[in-house]
Amino acid sequence: MKNATLWVINMCLFCTSFNVLADNIDTSLLDKGRYLATAADCTACHTQPNSQEKPYAGNYAIHSPMGDIIASNITPSAEFGIGNYTEQQFSDALRKGIAADGHHLYPAMPYTAYSGMTDEDVHALYYYFMHGVEPIDEPAKQTELDFPFNIRALMFGWNLLYANDQPYTPDDTQSAELSRGQYLSDVLGHCSTCHTPRNSLMAEDQSQYLAGAELDGWYAPNITSDAESGIGNWSYQDIAQYLKTGDVPGKAQAGGPMAEAIEHSFRHLNDGDLNAIAKYIKQVPAIQTPVAKTLTKPVTSSVHQQITGQGDQASLADTSEQDGGRLYQNACASCHGRDGAGTDDHFYPSLVENRTVTAAKANNLIMAISDGVARQGNQYDVLMPAFKRDLSNQQIASVTNYVRQRFGQVKSDLSSQDVAAIRHGQEAPFVIRYASTLLVSALVLVLIVIGVVVVYRRRK
Ligand code: HEC
Ligand code: HEC
Ligand code: HEC
Repeated sequence: MKNATLWVINMCLFCTSFNVLADNIDTSLLDKGRYLATAADCTACHTQPNSQEKPYAGNYAIHSPMGDIIASNITPSAEFGIGNYTEQQFSDALRKGIAADGHHLYPAMPYTAYSGMTDEDVHALYYYFMHGVEPIDEPAKQTELDFPFNIRALMFGWNLLYANDQPYTPDDTQSAELSRGQYLSDVLGHCSTCHTPRNSLMAEDQSQYLAGAELDGWYAPNITSDAESGIGNWSYQDIAQYLKTGDVPGKAQAGGPMAEAIEHSFRHLNDGDLNAIAKYIKQVPAIQTPVAKTLTKPVTSSVHQQITGQGDQASLADTSEQDGGRLYQNACASCHGRDGAGTDDHFYPSLVENRTVTAAKANNLIMAISDGVARQGNQYDVLMPAFKRDLSNQQIASVTNYVRQRFGQVKSDLSSQDVAAIRHGQEAPFVIRYASTLLVSALVLVLIVIGVVVVYRRRK
């Protein structure tokens, strides 16, 4: 009884303090900031996938060719997060890649995209992070890259070359909707950080804007308006639906990093914003990239008439099976159908005429088989099991070749080495791999040149 009274008193104290708080909070600014944080997908890197109960506490390691870069704690914790950041410091971190103590951030934090953010939006975001996010008093690990990348000041030079510090200014000649779509795509949604390939210094190659790029084994496809290699024949509706649900029957389903972006970010955007993105993406100039070679003779399964696989992972116990057709019947047919047509309600998608199956690069098919597909949706969740424990690289290669040839009618002769390389992720560009050697050689060269000049001057 005594406890109950105390509890009531406590609750009332809590209520009054909460009310005082609530009175001072500008809820519309808070909501605006929350929506922007969602559209910019801050959670993608700053919340660990396995600790969703600690939003924005950081500690998530982003794999880069230079090593793992750890995302910071950006909760308003004064000790471990950004609780002491002023709005100006927050703005500099977001738009210039400079932390409060002046150190340069690595561009794994997409400040190159966020640099276009308007002052008004930075203000709302700052307000949200200070008032709408729980402080979490836990430190994130330190990023420790090898020499020379541990010298953060190097980013100063990189920024001079590649960063842009101008907020987005709409082009007067285009409609307000198109400008909104451009802002959402380029600045907040940072589509290009995944869909644009990078040059030898890991900066986006603007001449290949949205023409497709590799990403930790997955491949963010060409989404320019090229009809064949891009998504030129998708309607506005297709693009908006893909961003909202991750599924456009007969075209594509989202797995890997795109599934995450849809789950945490795009599916929460309002329809007006999704349509604006579709409007913008559809008019991005076409860039033609290679497409897969189609087969002249259709392939029919040698086995699918006689085989009666269980269609589940248990039937893969026979690890010696190497025939792609049999592997398909055992591992895939229960959901995607013997003929690859999926189910009538499209819940299990058709593999025939599927962009992942016919793509020039087999990355997403291999990664979907190896790692599975998981995506939470507004209406329903989807789950395809991961086969990496059941199938060897050789078996993944066989089933991939089978699926591509039979359902995609494209040439495919991947080996187990190809599968291993794709699953391992892309190799770092030459300059990054040999950066320390190159840097030392460059220094030696400079010293030699200075030496020659000095000797020459003395002789004179
Ligand atoms: C693609 C991954 C990614 C996304 C998306 C992202 N960040 Fe970051 N962010 C990082 C990484 C990684 C770091 C640490 C970089 C470093 O140590 O050089 C970082 C650092 C920061 C810092 C500096 C904190 C400090 O003192 O170390 C702030 C502030 C920040 N992010 C805010 C945001 C906000 C706000 C958003 C959304 C608008 C966001 N980030 C989205 C990856 C990301
Ligand atoms: C975190 C990285 C990432 C970001 C950010 C991202 N994408 Fe993607 N996107 C991918 C990957 C990877 C795929 C391939 C997914 C698959 O097929 O399973 C993909 C697939 C797509 C596809 C399907 C293309 C096809 O041929 O199947 C479209 C359309 C698309 N993205 C549009 C966008 C737009 C528009 C944005 C920005 C608003 C965006 N993406 C942001 C990584 C990303
Ligand atoms: C238990 C059912 C199930 C099994 C077994 C299964 N899948 Fe899937 N598959 C799914 C679901 C569900 C999706 C996601 C549908 C969506 O995104 O709407 C999917 C998606 C896919 C996609 C599109 C993924 C992308 O990222 O583009 C491909 C390709 C695919 N499966 C191929 C296969 C192959 C090959 C096998 C056998 C090795 C297989 N699946 C086994 C249920 C299954």
